[in-house]
Amino acid sequence: MQLNEVAIYQGLDLDQDAWEEVEKSIIYYQDRPVGTVAALDNTVDALNYDQCFIRDFVPSALLFLVKGRTEIVHNFLEETLKLQPKDDQLDAYKPGRGLMPASFKVVSNGIKEYLEADFGEHAIARVTPVDSSLWWIILLRAYVVATKDYSLAYRDDFQQGIRLILQLCLATRFDMYPTLLVPDGSCMIDRRLGIYGHPLEIQSLFYAALRASRELLICQGNEDIVIAIDNRLPILIAHIRKHYWIDFRRLNAIYRYKGEEYGKDAVNQFNIYVDSLPHYELARWLPKGGGYLAGNVGSSQLDTRFFSLGNLMAIITDLATEEQSQGIMTLIDQRWEDLVGDMPMKIVFPALENEEYKNITGCDPKNIPWSYHNAGNWPVLMWMLAAASVKTDRIELAQRAMAIAQARLQEDEWPEYYDGKKGKLIGKHSRKYQIWSIVGFLLAKEIMNNPQHLPLISFNPFTAEQVSRACEFKIDSFDA
Ligand code: GLC
Repeated sequence: MQLNEVAIYQGLDLDQDAWEEVEKSIIYYQDRPVGTVAALDNTVDALNYDQCFIRDFVPSALLFLVKGRTEIVHNFLEETLKLQPKDDQLDAYKPGRGLMPASFKVVSNGIKEYLEADFGEHAIARVTPVDSSLWWIILLRAYVVATKDYSLAYRDDFQQGIRLILQLCLATRFDMYPTLLVPDGSCMIDRRLGIYGHPLEIQSLFYAALRASRELLICQGNEDIVIAIDNRLPILIAHIRKHYWIDFRRLNAIYRYKGEEYGKDAVNQFNIYVDSLPHYELARWLPKGGGYLAGNVGSSQLDTRFFSLGNLMAIITDLATEEQSQGIMTLIDQRWEDLVGDMPMKIVFPALENEEYKNITGCDPKNIPWSYHNAGNWPVLMWMLAAASVKTDRIELAQRAMAIAQARLQEDEWPEYYDGKKGKLIGKHSRKYQIWSIVGFLLAKEIMNNPQHLPLISFNPFTAEQVSRACEFKIDSFDA
């Protein structure tokens, strides 16, 4: 065998082993496949890793769809929909109407099997899984794209499910921004990490869920929701493209901001105090032509940490402009050691350290600097990096990252996350045989080999004209 033939052969072997783990992870309910467990690590207490998490199942589901195994995704969507509360709760400790659970498991009373949902009540700190509902809609749309079968989404119970989620998201609230106001830990980062308010991850998913809903909702009977989406979408897009964007030009402008401006003409609209930002570090870190969407924007707040999921999903779903998407990929390319390092890729960069770590995380021993959510490296992000690379025509970045992942992941037994500034160490408390690490890897390969899978998760461009036509304010910081 020639050397490259050996590599291909080993690659096939690796994929086959990986698939065997995926098969083992499938959860059956009343003899039908309905999901995949979070991890298959027998060496530690399962805790809640033997459950099917909505967010963890998304890459599994996309992979199943790519492979034509639509049944499990269909069953998952149907069963999770039944877990969504349909009525208002009198008990304020119970999940509200429309919320989707974080995870579920199959339990049996000896006679009958049933599904038990966890809305965060059993998880650490009872965090609300806001992202679950958004991912659920995004996945439903991926199912429709893959099967071309609208009948599931058009069913009354599914239309109601979408509507209830949107009613939660679009309700009148105590907020003046088009973004979604959420508590800390309401997404993949499900522990306190100072991301309460308007974190990018939730905003990217919110935007994608709105676009997916617009495709799936039957207008008749849903007129009010459709109007609400049409009103919200362009303003949301403009807000994120304008106010979350950080590049050298924007940094320079912020550096010279005045504080305490009143009235409509205020330039420093959110009253960001210049001293709150690490200007000098950022000026050194931002490469020419590079930029990214900030982690959070709010009153006197601009979180300048780089969050991968939100940025990558913004590229994939066309939330970011073409120019911004290229800027984000340039940043990843030029700051490779920081953002990818020894395992694609960092969940967030940089870590919270010292007093900031103590105050913001509440001294969380799992989220020590450069570990777990606090700037650990998460292999699951590989599929989003691959999709963003394909979308921006920067496939060489995905190939570079894939070579790193391929060389280690299986040998390390598919860890949940890695620690250290470059992600060299297997995470301190990391599970092995973490299913979204495995499916993230396999899905990345599928997307890289067949870019036609991208529409499962991407959308057509929403142009600057569409955005500015619908908005009262003039958008001058980007051209699409
Ligand atoms: C951890 C992660 C969360 C994931 C869960 C199951 O709680 O923070 O994002 O869904 O594990 O893998």
